[in-house]
Parts: sequence; structure tokens; C-alpha cells
Amino acid sequence: MKVLLIGSGGREHALAWKLAASPLLTKLYASPGNPGIAQEAELVDLSITDHAAVAAFCKDRKIDLVVVGPEAPLVAGLADDLTAQGIRVFGPSAKAAQLEGSKRFTKKIAVENGIPTGAYAEFTGAEAARDYVRKQGAPIVLKADGLHAGKGVVVAMTLDEALAGIEQVFSMGGSDPVVIEEFLDGEEASFFCLVDGETVVPLASAQDHKRIFDGDKGPNTGGMGAYSPAPVMTAEMEKRALEEIVRPTAQALVRMGMPYRGVIFAGLMITKDGPKLIEYNARFGDPECQVLMTRLKDDLLTLLLATCDGTLDKMSVRWRDEHAITVVMATKGYPGAYESGSEIRGLDRAGEVDGVTVFHAGTKRAGDRIVASGGRVLNVTATGKTLQEAQARAYRAVDLIDWPQGFCRRDIGWRALTRT
Ligand code: AMP
Ligand code: GLY
Repeated sequence: MKVLLIGSGGREHALAWKLAASPLLTKLYASPGNPGIAQEAELVDLSITDHAAVAAFCKDRKIDLVVVGPEAPLVAGLADDLTAQGIRVFGPSAKAAQLEGSKRFTKKIAVENGIPTGAYAEFTGAEAARDYVRKQGAPIVLKADGLHAGKGVVVAMTLDEALAGIEQVFSMGGSDPVVIEEFLDGEEASFFCLVDGETVVPLASAQDHKRIFDGDKGPNTGGMGAYSPAPVMTAEMEKRALEEIVRPTAQALVRMGMPYRGVIFAGLMITKDGPKLIEYNARFGDPECQVLMTRLKDDLLTLLLATCDGTLDKMSVRWRDEHAITVVMATKGYPGAYESGSEIRGLDRAGEVDGVTVFHAGTKRAGDRIVASGGRVLNVTATGKTLQEAQARAYRAVDLIDWPQGFCRRDIGWRALTRT
């Protein structure tokens, strides 16, 4: 099997690492890739927005499967355009990817199908939105439609914050209506499933750490670390999330004539009444994918092919009896302004710690040196018999990395480790 992987982050490095271990794989290409991915794949410089060029490459190299990491190419219809050319793609059509691309699309499906989620209303004008917010009171949640890299959401704990937030979300959403939503109280968890039409195969759960500083303080980021499994997602909760949330969503999409093919990432709030849907993503999470791949026992390529070929109903997925954790190392200044180009040393040493794999997220090669080229730069990932063991291994590796311009949170995993 020849596979082309699209993307350049830590998620894609983890996918490349797991794909490279597949007995079915004969050749892995990645575009654009990064220096970590280059250890597993041949990097090719394709213009991903030029779908015809991607298709031409796939035909020329006889690619058997294209795996799309990030959401933007999916929302832009890359899967549709490759499928139309007879090329197999792991990742949903543009229509089905609206699950991530449009908050309103997802909310409508949830409400029409009795899927538990926060009550909501849509607004096209700021004045009516303000009136509604005054009537509902705080806490309350405001969301701009479309993809905003996690920045289109205001969780307002006070009425003043909510009123100030209205300006912000209306300025981001363009002409699209704004969603105002009930605040859900509970513990957040991510739940991943492979979906092929009506067949849904649960993968695993994870928890992310979205704030930049220890103790979940400071501004939101793309994610500063994750672990899997998430203790709040007991077998009972997973079953409920599958039957009450993900499966009815997959069935609704089939009825709507836009069957989903790929991975569904459900962002859930585990409330006292059970799991409720916060949002969907049409891809693996980053950095959640890194902890899923290091725990996955089965062959990833087999599972992705089954998703594409409609044979998921014959699949089950086995996991190592281990916990996994990933610590994101970021460039000082992130998520604000930061400088690129600082040298990173000690990666080999760090990778030699028992159970540790260092995934590259935002690095570049400069001669024979590895330098930082982004905000989130490395994902130091470890497995262990317990989460404590995994955490200790990850930080042992972090401490072997010589990168004065880098920093990380020192408390990844705290929620699970302080549970009583
Ligand atoms: P989203 O982009 O929809 O995932 O929202 C970003 C973050 O805002 C989520 O990860 C939650 O932490 C928070 N959030 C979103 N919606 C709600 C809600 N209805 N209640 C509480 N928190 C929320
Ligand atoms: N880590 C959150 C995300 O990938 O959206």
C-alpha cells in the first residue's frame, strides 16, 4: 500500500509513525510534513489547495490511500475532489465536514435528533443577541460560526463578559448568524470514533489541557498536553456517548444524503445528567491523536482502509493496557507573538527514555540542526502502566531536551491524577 498523508503537525507525525509500523505499508509520502515526519515518510511539496495537483500526484505515484490530518482541506472539499477521481481518501466530504465547519449545522442536527446538547438560539443582529443574553443571564456561551481555530467561542461567566463578547463574535462570524448557548457544567472529555456511514466503531477517550499555564490558567491554546484514557469516560459513559450522541449523528447524516467517512472527534461535557455534545471535529485532535496512536495496538492502516471501504462493521479495535500522556513544548511567547529559529538539542537523548516518543509539531531543519518554527513545537509523548508512570517518563524526557527558548506545562494529567 502506498499512502499519502496530508499535514505538518504533531498529529500527522503520530499518524506517520503509526502508519509506518503497518505491515501493509510499502511507501509513505507526506505533504508538507516536517523533520519528524521525514523520519517515517518521503516529504513531497504539493500545493494542498490545488486539488487537481494532489490528484495528479496520487495517480502518478499510484497512491492507494490519502489520509487527511487537518480540517481545512476537508472543509474545502479535498476528499470530494479526490474521491471523484477514484482515489481513496480517509476523511469526510465537505458536506459532512460541516459537523466541524459550522456550529449551526451541528446544533440543528443535535436538536432535530434528540441528541443531548446545550439549548441554543441563533442571532443575525447584535441588538437581539444582547436582549437575549440579558434575559438568560450568565454564565452563557457565545459562538461565531465557521472555523476560527478555537478563537470563535466566548464562555462568559458574567453578564458584562457576555455583553462585551457579543461584539467580538459578531465581528468574527462575517454575515453568518451567531449561536448563543446554554453553559454546560461538568468535566470535558474528547471521544473518538471511526465512522463509515451508519457504522460507528468507538476508538478511545482523551482529555486535553487548553490553557497555556499550570493550573489551567491564562489564555486558550490549541492544546498544551493530553492523556488517554480519560477517567471520566467510564465504559458506561462511552456507551452512552456512542448510543446517544455519535451513532444518531452518523444516522442523521446518512438520511441527509451526506454519509460521514472518517474519524469523528466529539467534544463532550460530562454533566450530572450524562454526556452532552459541545462540538464535533472532523479529524483527529492535536495533541489527542498523539496519545491515541501510542496506545493503539491494532494496525492503523487496516482500520483506515476499512473506514474507506465500508467494512468497519467487521472491525474491533484493541488498545494496549497502558496509559499515554503527551506534553506540548511551545516557544516562549506562545499563544502570543514568539520568535522562530531557536535551536533544539537533545531530541535523541529524550527519545531514548523508556516508553517515550518525541513527535515534531513545529520544527524545521536548518543544515544539520533542528530549529523551532512554530508556537507548539514538540509533543513529548510517553506510555506507562499507570498515568503516573507515563507522566514521570514524559517529564524525564522533557528535561533532557536542551531548548532554552522552549517551555511546557508541568502539570499535564493533573485532573486524572488528583481524582478521588
Ligand atoms: P468549541 O470551539 O465549541 O469546542 O468551544 C471551545 C471551548 O469552550 C470548549 O472546549 C469548552 O471548554 C468551552 N465551551 C463551549 N461550549 C460550551 C458550553 N455550552 N458550556 C460550557 N463550556 C463550553
Ligand atoms: N486539541 C483540540 C483540537 O484538536 O481541536
